[in-house]
Amino acid sequence: MPTPHSAPPIRRLTLADLTACADLAEERGWAREEHKWGLLLAAGTGYGIDAPEGDGLAAMCVTTSYGPALTTFGMMIVAGRFGRQGLGRRLLTHAMHEAGDLPFALYATAQGRPLYEQLGFHAVGDTHTVSGPFRSPEPPTATRAAATTRPATADDLSALVRLDNEVFGIDRTHLLARLPSFTDRLRVAEHGTTLTGYAGIWPSTSCDVVAPLIAQDTDTAYALIHALAAETDRPLRLDIDARHTDLLDRLKHSGLDLISTTTTMTRGIPDLPGDWTRRFAPLNLAMG
Ligand SMILES: CC(C)(COP(=O)(O)OP(=O)(O)OC[C@H]1O[C@@H](n2cnc3c(N)ncnc32)[C@H](O)[C@@H]1OP(=O)(O)O)[C@@H](O)C(=O)NCCC(=O)NCCS
Repeated sequence: MPTPHSAPPIRRLTLADLTACADLAEERGWAREEHKWGLLLAAGTGYGIDAPEGDGLAAMCVTTSYGPALTTFGMMIVAGRFGRQGLGRRLLTHAMHEAGDLPFALYATAQGRPLYEQLGFHAVGDTHTVSGPFRSPEPPTATRAAATTRPATADDLSALVRLDNEVFGIDRTHLLARLPSFTDRLRVAEHGTTLTGYAGIWPSTSCDVVAPLIAQDTDTAYALIHALAAETDRPLRLDIDARHTDLLDRLKHSGLDLISTTTTMTRGIPDLPGDWTRRFAPLNLAMG
């Protein structure tokens, strides 16, 4: 669809737009998440439409490229006063075109889903966001075979990348290389000398987020969360693939409540690549 002559242009966002992005997120009731925006704008590609009054952004979104196999899309927000004027559709159409119409994936809110369906996305699953103060009823060692976890070191990086490759299904070394600086702490799980999982924890506006979370089974995933939670006083938040019902039950018993559900959607591929059984939580909902 051609852009009307008077329509404000879509421009690339840079790190200089970080505060404007956080402002727009906050205006729609989302957390400011400036720390996350730093990663999104540095490792992803942000697109924005300036408000005609010259005071901030009217609309924005971010894509992250994983080469020809996948582009992820997220953080699409249109300021309330510009809603239903076609800005969301323009941004998504533009982002898909810029990415070369390659396979796309996103996590849709209920509000975003009708637009995504109109543009050829289909639902492949759900993700539950749970949050709250973590209080473990008992240490994982007391009830179940415990996975051994420890802080990650630089020596773990190549094994971590190999494991992530298998589970995510696509090489994302360019993002993983940023994890040591993006996360407050990064932990690995191992069985003997084999790496069986890893997780990071990073600060959001009013909680700490455990992500990404990759583990060979629920016990390992819970052991990683338990160890990371032990070092923070802040509430936790996790975005868990809804098929991981055992982990969601254990998190509920540990004090975390369901706060929202998003729909995983893809376009051009039947499902997300990789191994969902070991992929418990994405790095964030915009980047996958
Ligand atoms: C979802 C959102 C980005 C849509 O942006 P927008 O600029 O208002 O959307 P558009 O005007 O391009 O609408 C495109 C189509 O999407 C659908 N749509 C948009 N908003 C909708 C809503 N609130 N309810 C139902 N359908 C909606 C409609 O089919 C619409 O076409 P129509 O107006 O011709 O009927 C915007 O409402 C928003 O920022 N919401 C809050 C944040 C959010 O949930 N973002 C999605 C993250 S996945």
